[in-house]
Amino acid sequence: MGPRHMARWLRRSALAVIAAIAVATAQAQERFSIFVGSDPSNVERMLRLAKLRDDDKVIDLGSGDGRIVIGAALLNPKLQGIGVDIDPKLVQQATEAARAQGVAERVRFLHQNAFDADLSGVSVVFMWLWPELQAMLRPKLLAELKPGTRVVTNVWDLGSWQPDEIDADGPSISLWIVPARIDGYWQWDLPLRGGTRSYGAIFEQRFQRAEGFTRVAKRRALLREVRLRGDELHVMLDMTLDGIGFARHEFSGKVRGDAIEGSVRILLPSQADRNVEETLVLPWRARRTATSSYFAPTGLDAP
Ligand SMILES: C[S@@+](CC[C@H](N)C(=O)[O-])C[C@H]1O[C@@H](n2cnc3c(N)ncnc32)[C@H](O)[C@@H]1O
Repeated sequence: MGPRHMARWLRRSALAVIAAIAVATAQAQERFSIFVGSDPSNVERMLRLAKLRDDDKVIDLGSGDGRIVIGAALLNPKLQGIGVDIDPKLVQQATEAARAQGVAERVRFLHQNAFDADLSGVSVVFMWLWPELQAMLRPKLLAELKPGTRVVTNVWDLGSWQPDEIDADGPSISLWIVPARIDGYWQWDLPLRGGTRSYGAIFEQRFQRAEGFTRVAKRRALLREVRLRGDELHVMLDMTLDGIGFARHEFSGKVRGDAIEGSVRILLPSQADRNVEETLVLPWRARRTATSSYFAPTGLDAP
């Protein structure tokens, strides 16, 4: 099923929705968010921004007549989709549409409250709900989705969690990448010049934005350019190490729960000639700790 077929189907669905809105009554208004189907061009933009992959499992929280999930399944012949909606009539309508479009084997619609949706294994979340409802779903998304999951919304945002990308070519379509949790204390060792240097680090995190600080022996330094995208973490550190001199570190790793696995590229003065730089690439294995050496007393002989 090509994109042209999908566009035709979306246009037909749009007309059906206008008719449905006309009969939307006070009963619908009791819910947080009434049914208004996304405009076909916005469905296409949402699907594009999600950068769908074969192994994706997408969910639409408040799936209405199923147009987003069915559109995703028509666009990518391998992905799996789920739609949940609080209105059983819409669930029925979406189920019939999936059957009519030949995607019923990969797509299912459930009569469910979005707050009860099973998000395990989900890699893309679509939403177009009232802003308050989306904001109230945010803790569930952050608690239950695995790092790297894409969240795409039509029009409304997710409060103070800033989007990672915005398609502003029309009503805002926004994309968030669920960040790994790095907030807290970390520790790692690096074998440098025959000795082991122990790094104690602290990250402070608000959604995908993070700042960091580190301590090696009695010196402290800021971790610079902390970049977190899903489970991928990149950090720069410029620091003078006792007995070695000024060392530039570029850390890159994947956050796996209480561990970070990756590598660090270190530029440091060569032992033979301090005016010449040497590059080392070492494994970077950090682990989360309960306390941090960062707070240990410095003493008056601190550099
Ligand atoms: C604005 S419509 C969006 C429909 C579809 N996602 C789209 O973009 O075309 C919002 C949908 O969310 C559903 N809804 C509202 N509150 C819900 C809740 N708490 N749980 C599940 N669905 C809900 C409504 O029934 C409606 O179908």
